Amino acid sequence: GISQAKQPIINERIDLPPQSYDSVPERAILAAVAAAESTNSISDLRIAVDDFEDCGLKKTAMNTVFSDGDSSAKIMFIGTVPGADEDRNGLPFVGLGGQLLNKMLASVNLDRSSCYLTNIIFWRPPGDREPTENEISVCVPFVERHIELILPEIIVLLGGPASKSLLGMKESINKIHGQFLKYSTRRMKNPILAVPLYHPNNLLRSPASKQDTWLDLLKVKNKLFQK
Ligand code: URA
Repeated sequence: GISQAKQPIINERIDLPPQSYDSVPERAILAAVAAAESTNSISDLRIAVDDFEDCGLKKTAMNTVFSDGDSSAKIMFIGTVPGADEDRNGLPFVGLGGQLLNKMLASVNLDRSSCYLTNIIFWRPPGDREPTENEISVCVPFVERHIELILPEIIVLLGGPASKSLLGMKESINKIHGQFLKYSTRRMKNPILAVPLYHPNNLLRSPASKQDTWLDLLKVKNKLFQK
């Protein structure tokens, strides 16, 4: 009720112990950083990801799902995890969510083949569970390098996990979708635009957000062609 809403939130998780260093796969993250930073082309990076053995998800996946589309694209879409269809085909966004994404792109006159698509996780989690923080931390160095090598004008972050892990934001996707934010890494001269959007799989479950997403995508597309 109202009195509850007025209570200041000091720290929702104050009762939890600080995360133990033992639970962080530091060795795996360092291995990922080293492997990612040693690459200087998309084909190098694809091989480095394919050869990487320190993410547990690889053991249960059929394929590494690296990317699809045009590596010289001005716009790069980054989703969450491969599902069954992506795992089978080795390509991102080929299942139902991907088909919806294709339609959304077409509705603002963007052709999928002129975009570049990837995920923050390269292997399908068993049972399609959510990726853990550790799994995300191990894949993100490759994703950062991926963005540096593609160097698009805009990255579109599909869903909360991609938005939060790349932008370090805590706000819910409900709040930040459609905002033009900035993304940069140490090695990038200039930041690039980053726009969180609802995830297509989320739109399959909550079609009411499709209208908002269409408006967001229209803004993104207009930004892309404004120069
Ligand atoms: N397919 C993908 O490749 N990524 C997603 O996030 C969802 C579906």
